[in-house]
Order: sequence, then structure tokens, then C-alpha cells
Amino acid sequence: MTGEAKPCRDGDHAKFEVVERDGWARLGRLHTSRHILNTPTLLPVINPNIRTVEPREMWENYGFEAIITNSYVIWKHDHLKVLAQSDGVHALLDYPGVIMTDSGTFQNYVYGDVEVGVEEIVKFQREIDVDIATMLDVFATPKMSYDEVEAAVDETVARSKSSIEAAQGTMLNGPIQGGTFSDLRMKSATEMANFDFAVHPIGGIVPLMERQRYRELVEVILACREHIPWERPIHMFGCGHPHLFPICVALGADLFDSAAYALFARDDRMLMPWGTVKLAELTEFPISTAALAGHTPDSVRSLGNEERCKVLAKHNLEITASELARCREAVRNGTIWKLVEERSHTNAALREATEYLYQNLPLSLIEATNPLRSGGVSMSNDLAMHPHSIACLGRLLSNCQQGGSDAIIYSGSGGPWRERIAGQVQTIHRRWPNISVFIETPLGLIPYSVEDVSPWAHINGPRVIWNEMSDDDLTFDLDAMLEEVGQILHLDVVESKANNIEKIEAEFGKGSTENEDTNRLLLDRSMMIDKVCYFLDISQDDAISLLDSCTFVYSKTKRVRNVHASDGEHILSPRLKDGGLSLTLEGAKRLHGKGMATVVVHDDSIPFTRKGRNVMHGFIVSTHGQLTPGLPCLIEDQKGTFLGHGVAQCTESEALGFRKGIAVKVRDGVGE
Ligand code: GUN
Repeated sequence: MTGEAKPCRDGDHAKFEVVERDGWARLGRLHTSRHILNTPTLLPVINPNIRTVEPREMWENYGFEAIITNSYVIWKHDHLKVLAQSDGVHALLDYPGVIMTDSGTFQNYVYGDVEVGVEEIVKFQREIDVDIATMLDVFATPKMSYDEVEAAVDETVARSKSSIEAAQGTMLNGPIQGGTFSDLRMKSATEMANFDFAVHPIGGIVPLMERQRYRELVEVILACREHIPWERPIHMFGCGHPHLFPICVALGADLFDSAAYALFARDDRMLMPWGTVKLAELTEFPISTAALAGHTPDSVRSLGNEERCKVLAKHNLEITASELARCREAVRNGTIWKLVEERSHTNAALREATEYLYQNLPLSLIEATNPLRSGGVSMSNDLAMHPHSIACLGRLLSNCQQGGSDAIIYSGSGGPWRERIAGQVQTIHRRWPNISVFIETPLGLIPYSVEDVSPWAHINGPRVIWNEMSDDDLTFDLDAMLEEVGQILHLDVVESKANNIEKIEAEFGKGSTENEDTNRLLLDRSMMIDKVCYFLDISQDDAISLLDSCTFVYSKTKRVRNVHASDGEHILSPRLKDGGLSLTLEGAKRLHGKGMATVVVHDDSIPFTRKGRNVMHGFIVSTHGQLTPGLPCLIEDQKGTFLGHGVAQCTESEALGFRKGIAVKVRDGVGE
């Protein structure tokens, strides 16, 4: 890490903001008075008595912006305690970044009683100037009975008030306990949320991770995630194996800590992104790191104990850092679930956990997922759909009713379908206007109108994923999108237009024969109505009245570029990049009050929104409609006056909880 620690601004202490996100996964910034910590990140565990790798090296060479050490160990050893009390923990460890300390809870779990008091250990952490302290929680193990775990949860809650008081403003960890009992995890999260903790670690999970009980780890996270305030970071206590990072990050984990880099090194084991490898079994290194440069497994084996341990620990740190960077990059570019799937193939227990998760995806995770992204979706044939596809499908089934009852279903090939069947669909639309046209895709049935929308527009995968849908799935989708299911005709995408039209005539008769010129306009209008319903959550009637007699400006490649209302006003434009819609100010104004996602802002931010400045967290009074990150939303004042529009960056609960960061990226305001 080059450069110094960067303190937060006055007033930002302990605030957490999200700068990028994908569903529950997020890239954040935790504001501490010493440094603004970028998350997700891992805090290497420093044993103040045995420094396998110097803390300063963690900062300078490996870019770890935070470390964790144990305040109880410092408190117990006079030579450490005296120095920490006189010069502070940063001088003791020679580390300029964020220092989090644990409280002795884990020592209590491993060795039995610790002799420090609840308030005493928090006060000590404050006195030695730690950046994030930890209260003395009660560790609940997976072996404990329900009553024992509940007692641990209750005692931790009972200690919270006096711990917060003893912290006197020092940021404090409020651990969530509850063992493997989902209702107790939920209770713990709900009750700990009532206190002013800065961070919520999920505790008591080390025994699960040691035995690779990853499915239960996922159950634990699912049980408490939605009950932990969204605006507080989540820390996975003792979780440091790189192959767990993607799934934990996808479930909203922000912080990790681990001694694995040093413990494994002492055991001659090497961390890899896909698992652990024993040095003794290697002939060649399957990955290169700076620590291993110039070495072979033989040459590392021939080093003395201390030197070998250092080389392996540094290798382990590099792997840890790069796997976290890979996760952050995946959140940035919308591929975190792809990474989760890839990692699920590296370990049977992780695979089981991933399958369990895919079968038990929480609705709020799906609702927090931006349905839009550029680029394709990759599908394998052995795992259920990932949350992005489910989010899109849910939106389709609830927003895109097709009115009539008869349907034509095109099957047999991937997109872009417009290149193969646009002409046929235009003819169907003109001659048989009451027949709905669908396309069969590996992600289910879609109306032709969303054929260029992600993820359907680019589905990558083996041929086998294009096999026919089961009758049950087909019936389910048709039931959801048609008012009543009538006659169904199946057509092949690759069949000629003449043959397909002949089949339609045989099934549905000649249809009407009106002016051929209106072909394209009629179809484009009806496609745009579907898209407006799909993306903006407004009723079909409102979409029809917005787009009644609308006209289009086409690009050179004959795609719709701009949509103009019947009075000539430019109201929206479809984006070619991802198939989404960009509203104009006039379009947004016309949609105001029609059920679209809306944030109501505080009076203080009215002048800023009017000028087109972003809506910041802390200034939202309420919301209505369903706020979806990445989709358009409207902004109004508390009297219901329209102020502007933009793209939501958060869900409703986040809009009401966060105090820092951008809530809506505003595209345009109504002016002064
Ligand atoms: N380290 C690993 N697990 C835990 C836990 O549950 N509580 C605390 N305080 N520290 C831990």
C-alpha cells in the first residue's frame, strides 16, 4: 500500500457507504477516524507475541488496510499492556491502518474462563486507541443445546448496553450469536440491531468452517442477514479461507478476518483460490506469487522452519489479497454469481452449500438485484438459475401480462431473434393482433417484446440448455402471462417465414388483411408498452396511454433510438447496451403518480434535486413503489411535487437506513 492512512471527514465517523453493488454483494467504505476502509476486505490476525509477518508489511507490501489483534492478549501480558497504554496499539504493532481488536471471547471458548470484565475490556480497547473494538460476547457452539445457545444470545444482548456506554464513541463490534438455530440467529440479529454498534460480526462460525459445514454456514448467514441493519457492515468472524469469499460476499459479507495465512503456513499448507495444498505433495507450484518467485517446492522444503513459515505465510497472504480483489472486481462487473458457481466446483461441501443457497434464495436478495447488465449470461445445465435471471423472470411474470389467450411459441434457437423472426412477428401482429408471441429460452418463456433485453438477449451455454421446456414449466409461464390459456401453436425459429405463416393460417385462420405499412410501427409500439411495464412497474393501461400514437426515431441499424409521445415530446430511449430504458425529464414527469418507484426527499434537499444533484442518503423521508438498484426512479418532495428522476442505487430498506453515500443517481431535475 503506498500512501498514508486517510482519516474520514468530520461527522462521518463510523458511517458505512456502498459505492457499488450486485444484489446483497457490495463494495463499501467504512469511515473511521484513522482511515476510510474499502470493503470487502480481510483483516489478517496479528498475534502480538508471534508476528509471522510484520503488520507494517501487511500495509506496505500486501495492501491490507486493516488488521485485527486480540485486546485480551495485550491486556494479559504486561510488556504489551504497558506499551499499548502509553503509546497506543498502533505504535505497539507499528501499523498505520485500521486496527480492530477482539475481546477475549474466543479465548474463553478455546481455553475456558477469561478473567476480564465486560466493561473493563471495552474500556481497555478504548484506552489503547483501537479503531474498532469488540464487546465480550458469549460464544455459542454448534454442539450446544437450544437452551444453552439461547442463554448465550440473551447474555450477549444483556451486555450490549453497558459495552456501548464503556466504548464512549469508539466503534464497537456487536456479534451475532445463535449457533445453528435459525430462529436464534434471527433473534440475536434483531436484538443486537437495537444498539448503536458500528459493525456486526457473525460469531460462533469457526467450528462450522473447521469441519467444512458450509451449508450450515449459508443457513446461518441467511437466517440473520435481513435482520442486521443494511447500513452496518457485516464481519465474518474467523473466516479466511479464500474459497469461501465469493459466496460470503454474494450474501453481503463486508469484512473477514483470519489467522489461516499463519496457522496454515506453520503446518506447511498453502492457500489456493480453490482450496488448500500441502507443500509436501507438490512437485511444481500450480500458481505463482511474489513470495514463491525463484523457488521450487523442493527449495522451500529445504528452508529452515522459521524462514519456510514466512515464505508460506506471505504466499498465503498474497492469495488471500488477490482472491478478495477478484471478488471486488466481480461485484463491480456483475459476475459475482459466476464466481460463486466457479468456486462451487472446487469443493464438495461448497457445492452443497451453493446448491442449497440457489434453492433458498431470499426474495429480498432477488429484489435487490439489478435486472440489467451488459454482456451475456453463462448457463451450465446442472445448477438452477442465478439470482439475476430469477429477478428478471419475476419481473416478467408479474409485470408483463399479455392480455389475450391464444399464443404462438417460437423455439429452437438463441437470439438475436429479431434477425430471424421480426418479419413474421410483424405479420402476426398485424393479421392476428390478439395472439401473443412468445420465445422459449433456457430461462423460461419470454414475450417477443423483451427479446433484446438482458439476460435473454445473450444466453451462453452448451447446446443442451436449449432443450425443450417441461410441460409444467411452460404451463406455469403461460398461466402467469396470459389472462386465460387458449390455443397454443409451436413454431420453429429457423423455419422459413412462408412455412410458419402457413401453419398459423391453418391453426388460426386468415386473420385480418390491413395496410402492410403499419407493420413495424404497430409492433414497436406494443414492444415498447411491454418494456415500459417490465422496467417501470406501471400498469398496462398507463403504459398504453403514455405511448398511445407514439412515434419512433430509428438508428442506422433500424433499432428504435428515441420514443416520442403523440404530441411529439421525446419521452424515453431504449439503450442498446443492455436493453434498458432511459427516461427523459418529460417522460419521467408523465409517469409521476402512476406507481413507479419514487423517493420522497427531505425539504433540505429540494433545491439540490431540482438542480439535478444526486439524492444522498440521510435525506430520504419515505419511498413508494418498488425501488430496485439500477432501475429508474422518480423523486418528489413531501407534498408530492415532482422534482426529478434518476437511477436508484438502493432498495427501500437501504434508502431509509443508510446515512452516507448516493441513494439515487439523478439524471435530471425540474430546475428552480
Ligand atoms: N472469533 C471467532 N469467533 C468469534 C466470536 O464468536 N466472537 C468473538 N468475539 N470473536 C470470535
